[in-house]
Amino acid sequence: MHTPVMVREVLEFLAVRPGGVYLDGTLGTGGHARALLECMGADGLLLGMDRDAEALAQAERILEPWRSQCRLEQGNYVDMAAPVARWGVKRVDGVLLDLGMSALQVENPERGFSFIHEGPLDMRMDRAQGMTAADFLESVSEDELAERLKQFGDEPDARKIARAMVMERQRQRFTSTRQLADWVARIKGGRRGKIHPATRTFQTLRIIVNREIECLEQGLKQGLAILGPGGRLVVLSYHSLEDRVVKHFVREHIGRWESLPAGGQRWVGQFPVVRWVAPKPLTPSNGEIVSNPRARSAKLRGAERME
Ligand SMILES: C[S@@+](CC[C@H](N)C(=O)[O-])C[C@H]1O[C@@H](n2cnc3c(N)ncnc32)[C@H](O)[C@@H]1O
Repeated sequence: MHTPVMVREVLEFLAVRPGGVYLDGTLGTGGHARALLECMGADGLLLGMDRDAEALAQAERILEPWRSQCRLEQGNYVDMAAPVARWGVKRVDGVLLDLGMSALQVENPERGFSFIHEGPLDMRMDRAQGMTAADFLESVSEDELAERLKQFGDEPDARKIARAMVMERQRQRFTSTRQLADWVARIKGGRRGKIHPATRTFQTLRIIVNREIECLEQGLKQGLAILGPGGRLVVLSYHSLEDRVVKHFVREHIGRWESLPAGGQRWVGQFPVVRWVAPKPLTPSNGEIVSNPRARSAKLRGAERME
């Protein structure tokens, strides 16, 4: 089971109230959704999505006691406005996005997310769509791979790995997690530092295969669009790139008055206008990190729609 991260803080940032309507765009195994339902009372409504069919099935089981108060669907949160309209909901009181992977995905070798387990090099959250990590590695150019490893993985040996990859794939196709992890470790010259040498490569591939950054940019827009006045958009991110996207998105919508050289002022920024729920991101307590090490890189940000 996946242990939900910063549950108390998520509920506080969402300002969950009895009878409210909340959308969880990343249901996972339903941990946050369940906590939301417990706070909402019998009149609340939970709308839930996950692009992963297995996660959705698991969430449905967990949320069974609240079945009449849930509307759940498999899908990408990028498209959240469509099911919300279909469910007859005009505006929601809160949107939650808990990014990254669930334990259900990481710990299943068949999904190919982890180099600890031997499995196919897949990494798709929605196994019915898109290219696998193996497909990507088969066709990517050296320049693109080097750029992506830097951008999404902060990989210091990006060029070295990319150059070796395009040569190596003339000899062998990369199809399994251990095969890739062992190969990256050899190219990087073995284990140095605290993390496994393939960590950054695996993170890069997961972000690309699932188009995680594009989804987040689109999902934030959609989230804001379905919020009613006073509604809250709350995001839990797990690496700096995601957190930066959230920070910039909210800043653009906070906007500001800019003085004009000829006098007067003009508004710079986008509508609808939002405000930060808290000026700085929240991080998990030491106690939570000890009991759930997966929480260690979490950052929680929240914004409130003003009108
Ligand atoms: C960290 S887990 C969420 C865990 C969940 N909050 C819980 O308490 O169990 C992230 C989930 O988001 C899903 N996900 C990631 N990107 C998504 C997207 N663009 N649309 C819908 N679901 C997505 C993943 O499949 C995964 O199940």
